[in-house]
Amino acid sequence: MAIALVATIASLALETWGSPQSTLALSLLVVVILIGAGIGLWRARVVEMTGMPELIALLHSFVGLAAVLVGWNGALDSSHVPDNFVDIHHGEVFIGVFIGAVTFTGSIVAYLKLSARISSRPLMLPGKNFLNVGALVAFVGLTAWYVVVPDIWLLVAVTVLALLLGWHLVASIGGGDMPVVVSMLNSYSGWAAAAAGFLLNNNLLIVTGALVGSSGAYLSYIMCRAMNRSFISVIAGGFGIEKPASSDDEEVGEIQEIDAASVAEMLSSANSVIITPGYGMAVAQAQYPVAELTQQLIAKGVTVRFGIHPVAGRLPGHMNVLLAEAKVPYDIVLEMDEVNDDFSSTDVVLVVGANDTCNPAAAEDPGSPIAGMPVLHVWESSKVIVFKRSMSSGYAGVQNPLFFRENAFMLFGDAKERVEDIIKAL
Ligand code: TAP
Repeated sequence: MAIALVATIASLALETWGSPQSTLALSLLVVVILIGAGIGLWRARVVEMTGMPELIALLHSFVGLAAVLVGWNGALDSSHVPDNFVDIHHGEVFIGVFIGAVTFTGSIVAYLKLSARISSRPLMLPGKNFLNVGALVAFVGLTAWYVVVPDIWLLVAVTVLALLLGWHLVASIGGGDMPVVVSMLNSYSGWAAAAAGFLLNNNLLIVTGALVGSSGAYLSYIMCRAMNRSFISVIAGGFGIEKPASSDDEEVGEIQEIDAASVAEMLSSANSVIITPGYGMAVAQAQYPVAELTQQLIAKGVTVRFGIHPVAGRLPGHMNVLLAEAKVPYDIVLEMDEVNDDFSSTDVVLVVGANDTCNPAAAEDPGSPIAGMPVLHVWESSKVIVFKRSMSSGYAGVQNPLFFRENAFMLFGDAKERVEDIIKAL
């Protein structure tokens, strides 16, 4: 980006050298860059680890917006385009504006969902697949029309259509699939940049945009495979999923509450313990007392390991980073696949602020919105202690039957305070 900014300033300086507007244009450019860079630096420095995905989503929206503005600029000023390229130019304008506008509103909805400003449940408009396919068909028709008759109102129409489509595509995707959506929007933002590169006749932008676009698409594909999701369904806004999100916060039995002293007793007499952390551990910043508890248990001769789900928390590797921060040794931090068969021979599992990633409904209830997503099989162990503050659902907005199992015990309160209480009791 630094090279691109320097090149942009230098090329403007060379083009306008000696003209009366040169100093004004250059000063304006420098002021704008300084303001933008200042805001970017400030946001990136103050953002919490848990706020990272939404910051990334917001930054993707800027790429989309930039592509829309470049497209509109290309439509309003096409005087430099040679006559035999005018039709291609019109097509480029339409494609650039379309991809850019879908990325823009899609990323804003992702930002709102990730920052919990709107519900993470999927929006289920009637005939939603028909709406998405209809918007794509309308886009193709409008593009052909615009190439023949470049009326500015057609451009207005496609801009509005794409803004609505972007919003609808991401709003229709449930919270559990948000990690894939973020990488998919990353891919869209790359294609939006590549489209802007064609319009600006800028090879660097085309190449870097295509790199981001294709690597983002491949990452989305890998994540879909890891989470047992259909790639096409996710990129097409939940295509094929017509069922409304399940009822969710409804309780499905009795829960058993436990206090920190009883958990400490249970842990003291255990031979093996697995800790499965989730987003709540990041919110509570409970990794430090969790690391201390681990040390104490190991010192008592208990075998302690961690089971990490690939999408626990809010960004890839979130839990690994937190545990590394608290100096938990790497060799006891295991991936989901390495630990999933061991739960049945484990005495106690501590579910510290995790919810969706330990939800048995994903493995057992084919009607659940998260059905098929691989999860940590914590319920197979002898006893499960769930650390959370209330009975509210996890990010996907789905009820967790784990809490009502006979071998599950709820330890309510802030995860950090509760782990500290256990350490005191030990
Ligand atoms: P979640 O399902 O998000 O559940 C977190 C739980 O932590 C909640 O049930 C919450 O319950 C509890 N909690 C929050 N603050 C707490 C605190 N201070 N003390 C104790 N508990 C607290 O967590 P998960 O199992 O890690 O699953 C992650 C979810 O995020 C998945 O659905 C995943 O698809 C999605 N997601 C992941 C990513 C990536 S890449 N990792 C990106 C975006 C979305 P209370 O409110 O009752 O306390």
